Amino acid sequence: MKKIAFCFLVVFINLFVVHAEDGHRLWLRFNTSQEGVHHFSGLMGDNNVLAINEFQEAWKLLTGSYLPANKALTDKVLVIGTSKNRTIKSFGFEKTLKSLGNEGYILKSVNKKNKIYTVVTANSDAGLLYGVYHLLRLIQTSQFDENLNIIEKPAYNHRLLNHWDNLDRTVERGYAGYSIWRWDELPAKISPLYKAYARANASVGINGTVLNNVNASPQILSKEYLEKVKIIAGELRPYNIKTYLSINFSSPKELGGLKDSDPMNPEVQKWWKEKAKEIYAMIPDFGGFLVKANSEGLPGPMDYGRTHVDGANMLADALKPFGGIVMWRAFVYNPDGDDRAKQAYKEFKPFDGKFRDNVIIQLKNGPVDFQPREPFSPLFGAMEKTPVMPELQITQEYLGFSNHIAYLAPMWKECLDSDTYCKGEGSTVAKTTDGSIYNQKITAIAGVANIGEDLNWCGNHFAQANWYAFGRLAWNHELTSEQIADEWLKMTFTGDKNFIEPVKEMMLSSRESVVKYMMPLGLHHLFAWGHHYGPEPWCEVPGARPDWLPKYYHNANETGIGFDRTTSGSNAVSQYNSPLREQFNDIGTCPENLILWFHHVPWTYGMKSGNSLWDELCYTYDSGVQEVRDYQKTWDKLEKYVDAERFRHVQSRLKIQSRDAVWWKDACLLYFKQFSHMPIPYDIERPVWELEELMKIKLDMTHHN
Ligand code: GCU
Repeated sequence: MKKIAFCFLVVFINLFVVHAEDGHRLWLRFNTSQEGVHHFSGLMGDNNVLAINEFQEAWKLLTGSYLPANKALTDKVLVIGTSKNRTIKSFGFEKTLKSLGNEGYILKSVNKKNKIYTVVTANSDAGLLYGVYHLLRLIQTSQFDENLNIIEKPAYNHRLLNHWDNLDRTVERGYAGYSIWRWDELPAKISPLYKAYARANASVGINGTVLNNVNASPQILSKEYLEKVKIIAGELRPYNIKTYLSINFSSPKELGGLKDSDPMNPEVQKWWKEKAKEIYAMIPDFGGFLVKANSEGLPGPMDYGRTHVDGANMLADALKPFGGIVMWRAFVYNPDGDDRAKQAYKEFKPFDGKFRDNVIIQLKNGPVDFQPREPFSPLFGAMEKTPVMPELQITQEYLGFSNHIAYLAPMWKECLDSDTYCKGEGSTVAKTTDGSIYNQKITAIAGVANIGEDLNWCGNHFAQANWYAFGRLAWNHELTSEQIADEWLKMTFTGDKNFIEPVKEMMLSSRESVVKYMMPLGLHHLFAWGHHYGPEPWCEVPGARPDWLPKYYHNANETGIGFDRTTSGSNAVSQYNSPLREQFNDIGTCPENLILWFHHVPWTYGMKSGNSLWDELCYTYDSGVQEVRDYQKTWDKLEKYVDAERFRHVQSRLKIQSRDAVWWKDACLLYFKQFSHMPIPYDIERPVWELEELMKIKLDMTHHN
């Protein structure tokens, strides 16, 4: 009897392990239930390459066994090999391969002697890996066929995640638990998460990662920590992922004991050169440094009367002999009385052409700070001789943390596809950064990671889609948000159309819904002090920097609301090229979704819909709330297509999102109503909160999740 019970227990545990749907497998599930699994009959290729191992492991999950190698060849052969492989040579791809660089690949069906070959080839093992993941994606999304003719190479050379992970394993703006980097256990113990992380990144084409927070501790460059970094770098390397570090500009003083960290001090320069040498002796393919300097109180060259150029070039010189790069952030602002949105442009534009050729300027998508909607930063396109890289935020610091569903591909596409007009029409942000407009030696893009130790990695199953989408867009910014959502859903959930279609619709509109219930019509930074989760448009903190307070941004008063950035206001519009500057400057032509970003608008102003601004604001907030209610309905109806674990998780997140949407709407409308003196239109849902109650809410966000 006991034995039977034991057996039962074993079976039960097995079932549980096999079917546990905690989301840990991300989009790399390779479910046998996926439709359209194509059965190759044999595999040929290079020996001992990771790409083949990855393929075989996936194939085993898909079909139950490995694909027989070489001898068992019959009529449907998969060939995975670099240009040096003998079989590959016989197909004559040399010319095409020459144009594909180190990471590109060819995925092609070839008919030869009554056999159908599916060929994955590239110039390097890295290219093969990306090619194999493309093939696996096609199989998993039922798009595989025997007429493949795919030639790919990445849009950006450096496709990086930025971790804002601290050495004590907390994550700044992280909503998925502690950092995956277990500094306390390293270098002795290697967590299996490192490899799983590398694999997930490689599967979407990410090829670099900055391990630590931009608000960097000097300690990261100590011998002790470099030993740990070396181990992580070793785990990531096979997956073609380079390791980078954020540095603290004061490290020579803080860590090296020098009297200062002045970039013109020869001792300081020497310190950095020696540090670089030490790093490269341990990590020969180390990627370089990410630097936040003279921003938000951090040290930098200006502390010594020097400039960004002096600081960046000193570091660049130290890294140059080893092939490293410096990513110098343009997220710099000080309370100098002028509009914060103008600062990056003002500080950096005059330095165009003065940086070393291994420096790239890392620039947030918008001119303020990852708000739910911002126009693109005017510095894109403005630097002609210095490369600029977009910094996007995958973690949802300003979009409901990991509680709200907000699929961010549409937001990033909005920026990347924005026309800067720097070289006439069609000069999109993407083209000003990917080397198509300016002759750039370095091209790069970064995303602030949303990854933590939570079993599902990102704190919310749907937040995984943002990690996925960032990688896909970094590889190819021309992909549509819909295509990316479609792939991700099929691989992560099911191929069933009845599930895919409604959920895809939900994903595609989700970011706009967040904008609507948080900050529509160009409003920005209405967030609570201390955290960026809930609303606090009324926020007053005695002695606080004005540019950290919501009132600085919304300027609500009896006459209207919004930030006047026109020629008669802060004149931020002049940083944009024509015809944008004229378009933004004129209230009649300014896009309405940015109207309060660029204008202080009277409450009674007539919007295109025929509503007054006030009514439009109310209706927009309300529609945001209603849309989240609809997401709940959509999701609840789909219960039968989703495993119970993930179903419940998402269901409960949507409940939170729904409540938060009402909170945002009531807080903002009740507060602004005090200035508009106009009623909330009677055909929308009434407020359910008292403003006084909402003003009392003080969240403890130390344990957000
Ligand atoms: C935001 C964010 C900070 C972060 C900063 C940055 O202000 O709230 O946590 O350090 O951006 O990007 O440097």
